[in-house]
Amino acid sequence: MNNKSFVEETNCFSKKLTNSFFKKIFVFDEIDSTNNKAKELALKNEPEGTLVLSKIQKKGRGRFDHIWRSPEGGLYLSIILRPTCKPEKTTLLTFLASLAVSETIKEYGLLPYIKWPNDVIIKNKKVSGILIELEAKNKKVDFVIIGIGINLNTDVSVFSKNFISTSISAELGHDVDFYSFLQFLLKNFEKYYLLFFKERYNEIINFWKEKSDTIGKEVKIINFNSEITGRVVDVDESGFLIIKTSSGQIKKITSGDCVYLR
Ligand code: BTN
Repeated sequence: MNNKSFVEETNCFSKKLTNSFFKKIFVFDEIDSTNNKAKELALKNEPEGTLVLSKIQKKGRGRFDHIWRSPEGGLYLSIILRPTCKPEKTTLLTFLASLAVSETIKEYGLLPYIKWPNDVIIKNKKVSGILIELEAKNKKVDFVIIGIGINLNTDVSVFSKNFISTSISAELGHDVDFYSFLQFLLKNFEKYYLLFFKERYNEIINFWKEKSDTIGKEVKIINFNSEITGRVVDVDESGFLIIKTSSGQIKKITSGDCVYLR
């Protein structure tokens, strides 16, 4: 019988990562938010590839100040990156993170799609979200935190009924091994980050387009106080959404909550 705690078991697992991009790993049984911790560590000069993982989060955060419910069973991690690119290119990092997540989920025989900009969905239900946080000075990136939350072996019945979500275990009908999944995910992340490092940005966007179901959809984009509706005609090289409104205007959307209308 395995009596190891999450921290002990994850620290054992981390020995497998010594030859990978992820050289340093900080593990917690419980934390407010892995993104908060990763930011604290980045400010103390922890290097690129540092990973923060927690079994649960007490104050998991999503985009637009949403709460990211983080009970036991989910996968919550944040990665410190220090890319040498222009700050505006860092949006693509969320695209590559959602690609890595969707590719990992596919290895389990499921059919995930990506909803712009980076929600991973299965049968129209959200299974994973990405939160990027950028620290830049004088138009130079200091660091980027990529937070990834995945409903892995999560009992989604604990979530509110208005929140349309699913988990990998709910879709498969059984739990999956946490560490095998994590290993696939990190391998896939590293693969796509290499493309980013080599500035092969178009390839990232093209892979993303293949996995996204947003192009062609009628959508409403909600951005703080404004809303815009229209049909998605494309996603440009920076990851911005190109929308044609009912009056025929072409609009470029840089951020917002995307709701499918039909
Ligand atoms: C979203 O879909 O709105 C983004 C959700 C991001 C959640 C992850 S879980 C790990 C990391 N820590 C956080 O507090 N948030 C991200």
